[in-house]
Amino acid sequence: MTKKLYIKTYGCQMNVYDSERMAEALGGEGYEQTATPDDADMILLNTCHIREKAAEKIYSELGRFKGLKAEKPDLKIGVAGCVAQAEGEEIVRRQPMVDLVVGPQSYHRLPEMNRKLAEGQRALDTDFPEEDKFNHLAKRPKAKRGPTAFLTVQEGCDKFCAFCVVPYTRGAEVSRPAARVLDEARDLVERGVREITLLGQNVNAYNGHDGGLAGLIWDLDKVDGLERIRFTTSHPNDMDDALIEAHGTCEKLMPYLHLPVQSGSDRILKAMNRKHTRDAYFVLIEKLRDARPDLLLSGDFIVGFPGETDADFEDTMDLVRTVGYGQSYSFKYSARPGTPAAEKDPVAAEVANDRLYRLQALLSDQQRAAQDAMVGREVRVLFEKPGRQDGQMVGKSEYLHAVHVTSDAVQVGDIAQVRIAESSTNSLAGEFISVDA
Ligand code: SAH
Ligand code: SF4
Ligand code: F3S
Repeated sequence: MTKKLYIKTYGCQMNVYDSERMAEALGGEGYEQTATPDDADMILLNTCHIREKAAEKIYSELGRFKGLKAEKPDLKIGVAGCVAQAEGEEIVRRQPMVDLVVGPQSYHRLPEMNRKLAEGQRALDTDFPEEDKFNHLAKRPKAKRGPTAFLTVQEGCDKFCAFCVVPYTRGAEVSRPAARVLDEARDLVERGVREITLLGQNVNAYNGHDGGLAGLIWDLDKVDGLERIRFTTSHPNDMDDALIEAHGTCEKLMPYLHLPVQSGSDRILKAMNRKHTRDAYFVLIEKLRDARPDLLLSGDFIVGFPGETDADFEDTMDLVRTVGYGQSYSFKYSARPGTPAAEKDPVAAEVANDRLYRLQALLSDQQRAAQDAMVGREVRVLFEKPGRQDGQMVGKSEYLHAVHVTSDAVQVGDIAQVRIAESSTNSLAGEFISVDA
């Protein structure tokens, strides 16, 4: 009898990829995914520990499943991902109805863990095992799938930014061998995928290929049927010349780059242990724009890091004005237990709130301006799904802008030439010109 699995995913794209792989691992145990927790036999929360709010949300979400568990005592409740890794058994102590806790490096053991659950036992595994989980996961099923996919090529982080939990929850930097990544990419293409986003906490530190990430991208460039390559997230210090050059020469590599800087102040960058200066970042941006003038840049920013003064914050505002971002994510600093920055005195909440408000206003103006600048231009859109209105299709341009088109001529998976006619809050509307053969 098939059982139903409900997975809810929080956090970054790496978790989205992991959720797919966990669903596949449990697929072999007779589980099929369901869209609601109400009819599930197992609920799995794939969690994020990056900020305090993200972690606390998990406990309130678990509380909401109490009623379901009371109605259905056989229901299994599991916590996966970075909260599982960071808190381990503490989760069961705070929420005894949790049956399963599995860290991001041990989920290939889910089939065994599930058998333990079936025997009425609890299953906990937050090891950083010796074996590579990817070699122990079942082969991915052959089912047809959507035109875009994530593919994890690197995991973990050795950078130890003073504010960040990732080195503790995901462990040391490890790259998958290029041959395995290529096999998985070919397999995805056979299943209908045309765009792959290579994932890693520090994806540009990838070393599973002699030529680094650029070498891997050039090998993927030769995969027939794969039309678009993206990668995320990069660290400025790992952006080597070959990768910069690939942005200008590899046609399949899309002109969009997420390159977090976190702060524009040298003092704060140093306190954050980012290991580069504001000027080094400017030089890097210049090189990238020389290679690919239309590159759309995206960034991450933290305001209110301990010790941040008004002058430091103005340096961040100035950096943003100088660089110009087409997309960005900005956060108020959140003290995370176990990280060096958590020992320092925080910036007053009102001050941090005010800075976040000002920074977000500037970033959203830039985002809107980058979008508005697309009006009148022709872009190529990979269509991913039908839109809300009749006859409408939605896809992404090279620059990762969401584009709506109303036309019978396009189908999911098509790449079409589109003229942008209108820009609205979070998307563009375009007119269909032609579909690629
Ligand atoms: N590896 C990536 C980012 C991973 S975390 C990188 O190096 O850029 C995603 C983003 O969350 C970070 O870029 C940072 O902006 C934010 N972040 C991480 N820890 C945080 C904290 N303690 N408080 C607030 N934001 C944080
Ligand atoms: Fe966190 Fe820094 Fe590593 Fe990014 S590079 S994951 S921000 S420690
Ligand atoms: Fe969150 Fe873990 Fe990703 S802490 S951002 S889910 S690596």
